[in-house]
Amino acid sequence: METFTPQLLKGKIAFIAGGSSGINLGIAHGLAAAGARISIISRRIEKVDAAVAELRAAGGEAMGLAVDVRDYPGVEAALRATHEAWGPIDVIVSGAAGNFLAPAIGMSANAFKTVIDIDLLGTFNVLRASYEFLRRPGASVISITAGQAVNPSLFQSHACAAKAGINMLTKCLALEWGPAGVRVNAIAPGPIKDTEGMARLTPTPESEAALKSVIPLGDYGEKRDIADLALFLCTDSAKYITGAILDCDGGSSLSRIGPARAPEAPAAATGSR
Ligand code: HXC
Ligand code: NAP
Repeated sequence: METFTPQLLKGKIAFIAGGSSGINLGIAHGLAAAGARISIISRRIEKVDAAVAELRAAGGEAMGLAVDVRDYPGVEAALRATHEAWGPIDVIVSGAAGNFLAPAIGMSANAFKTVIDIDLLGTFNVLRASYEFLRRPGASVISITAGQAVNPSLFQSHACAAKAGINMLTKCLALEWGPAGVRVNAIAPGPIKDTEGMARLTPTPESEAALKSVIPLGDYGEKRDIADLALFLCTDSAKYITGAILDCDGGSSLSRIGPARAPEAPAAATGSR
């Protein structure tokens, strides 16, 4: 990524869960370009290795491990390895997520639980396990939520519920960790182009055009938009911000996203995995 303020995060260490692709990899590039050392985790080692290579090729210092955020000991071990390699962690980004379009009656209890476990329990695991390794005072903890946390969305009961939980977890941990000088915030991206998320949620040109028609700024955002906001939250410019859920969505949350009624529900237990 180009033109981030050079060295704004020189000497800082950032741990990014779900950092091997999409929006979170965009954040990794943004923080690396500002001078931070980057440690990423996600499930698939080939994705982790490719992302680490990409970050290094761009001039950054990076490491990565294959870990599922549902595995608390694995998450803790990755944080410990980062701390042992580089020292106290200045920035945590919790962005791992899973999603698919499905009506509630097309979901098994395990399907619902799977998204809750990745998004909400996974965020608890990352934040809870990080505490002992954080720079205290000074650390900035950022979770990635979504507007669907407060705006109900068709065929998204699992993701809406999980992200709503992340919003409340953000506020509760901001209360608990503020006295230790740890700020806890969340970013709610709107629809971001060239991401797995939007490939799943608006898979056709028609659904993409319909969504764009209700975005006040008229288009999807870019990964860079989210990376810039994350960078801001890591700096002293944000030193009095905690417990905030920050929308970066072109105004999407101001209007209903998607139809209130659908002519046809997606078939149960189908769709991309
Ligand atoms: C109904 C489905 C389904 C579908 C899976 N399941 N896909 N049910 N419709 N389309 C069910 C399965 O049948 C199974 O239930 C259960 O979910 C778990 O499926 P697994 O494949 O075993 O799970 P797992 O390997 O853990 O994979 C998790 C996943 C997968 C979420 C299902 O899609 C994934 O790995 N996603 C990661 C990448 C991703 O989704 N990125 C986009 C994030 S975007 P049974 O009962 O059969 O065992 C995003 C946008 C946010 O979050 C904006 C809105 C909030
Ligand atoms: P993405 O590319 O699929 O990113 C998800 C990341 O999480 C990947 O690196 C994935 O890698 C990892 N991951 C998934 N399950 C995991 C698990 N159980 N344990 C560890 N890592 C796991 O999707 P994206 O669209 O960029 O979304 C990134 C974040 O932004 C998510 O939190 C999403 O909810 C949020 N968001 C996205 C949009 C959008 O427009 N795309 C809008 C609002 C919010 P592996 O497969 O290797 O595990």
